[in-house]
Amino acid sequence: MKRFSASSMRSFLGFSFLSICGVIAHGTPPSSSSWVSSNNRQHPISLDDPSVDDVDILTGSQFHGLKTFGNLPYVKCFSDEEAACKKYDIAILGAPFDTAVTGRPGARFGPTGIRVGSQRLAGFDFYTDEDALHDWATIVDCGDATLTWLDNTVAFKQLDKAHRVISGRPTANDTVAAVPRILMLGGDHSTTLSALRSTYRRWGQVSVIHFDSHIDTWNPDVLGGNISHYAGINHGTFLHIAHEEGLIRNTSIHAGLRAPINKRSDRINDKRCGFSVITARDIDKHGIDWIISTIKARVGDSRVYISVDVDVLDPAFAPGTGTSEPGGWSTRELLTIIDGLRGLSVVGADVVEVSPAYDNSGETTVLAAAQVGLSLVSLMVAKPVRD
Ligand SMILES: *[C@@H]1O[C@H](CO)[C@@H](O)[C@H](O)[C@H]1NC(C)=O
Ligand SMILES: *[C@@H]1O[C@H](CO)[C@@H](O)[C@H](O)[C@H]1NC(C)=O
Ligand SMILES: *[C@@H]1O[C@H](CO)[C@@H](O)[C@H](O)[C@H]1NC(C)=O
Repeated sequence: MKRFSASSMRSFLGFSFLSICGVIAHGTPPSSSSWVSSNNRQHPISLDDPSVDDVDILTGSQFHGLKTFGNLPYVKCFSDEEAACKKYDIAILGAPFDTAVTGRPGARFGPTGIRVGSQRLAGFDFYTDEDALHDWATIVDCGDATLTWLDNTVAFKQLDKAHRVISGRPTANDTVAAVPRILMLGGDHSTTLSALRSTYRRWGQVSVIHFDSHIDTWNPDVLGGNISHYAGINHGTFLHIAHEEGLIRNTSIHAGLRAPINKRSDRINDKRCGFSVITARDIDKHGIDWIISTIKARVGDSRVYISVDVDVLDPAFAPGTGTSEPGGWSTRELLTIIDGLRGLSVVGADVVEVSPAYDNSGETTVLAAAQVGLSLVSLMVAKPVRD
């Protein structure tokens, strides 16, 4: 077999490549006149058919390369060398972790699932007529953080570091944004704690807009059985811990709540952690516009972190998750609410608790999660936040 060097391969393929930081980045698309006309087929196509050289193999299909979120470029954000020359304004980061769940496991496969569900997120949004993934901001997929599945204490440190490194890089468009923002793909919900530590480090306290069917402010002494410190840090307590660590403001809000709680103590504790509540059924009583304006009034002009647990959706729309609760919102309702938050200063966001093993063959959950991810990125693009 003949071996090709990289450069002979490039000339063999017949493209002129630009080299950015030593990495092949772009090709020149073929001229349209060189395509083989379908009503003028040549049978058989000869092995050295020159028109093969002119076929575009770089653009034009959702099925190409490796699966990144929305087919965005993959950048090794943890490599100092690569990050120095491939700068970004918004980073997608996977957090494949699910050893702090109380229900069904499997969210460690969530980032991969969401990426698979995101392959058709392309082009101009039907409602806004904007292409958020290809606007002023350079958006890249950093792949997944390295997280051990054997020791949660170590895994949280790894994720803390991943956020710290990625948000500490210089931005691509430094006239608009000084600090890169992160959309995290979970992972069980405990991964949000690392994200909030990171936004606190870069931006100070944030108001959390928490889309979920559960409060997630449970006292670790209550959820986790009070058996050990290790057990207390889990996907139902991370907002309590975020409050204790001083990461979040008392202008935070839950949206879509409906799961059972121990009314007396849990609700008092929830308020103490800085949250007000919009229930799932408030949508029937007050409508979507009320939900949007209530969220906006609550957070005011503070910096905002948006966390979307996919179980805020009804199990009909998102079966692939760890702790399903009937009676949730539809995908369309959730998207309208999130898109209604344009104008808020979103400094970080996530979509979490996606467990593809419980999804269906139509991939309902990962498609919904990917669309939610796009809406979250669109909010960041719509409102740059400086310093
Ligand atoms: C930075 O963003 C601004 C405003 O959105 C845009 O006009 C400008 O072209 C961008 N600059 C670069 C280098 O992308
Ligand atoms: C948790 O355990 C500690 C002792 O290990 C005890 O002091 C505390 O009261 C317990 N909390 C609850 C809520 O049971
Ligand atoms: C938040 O806390 C501050 C001071 O700690 C207080 O003045 C303010 O009223 C609180 N806001 C809410 C919405 O609870």
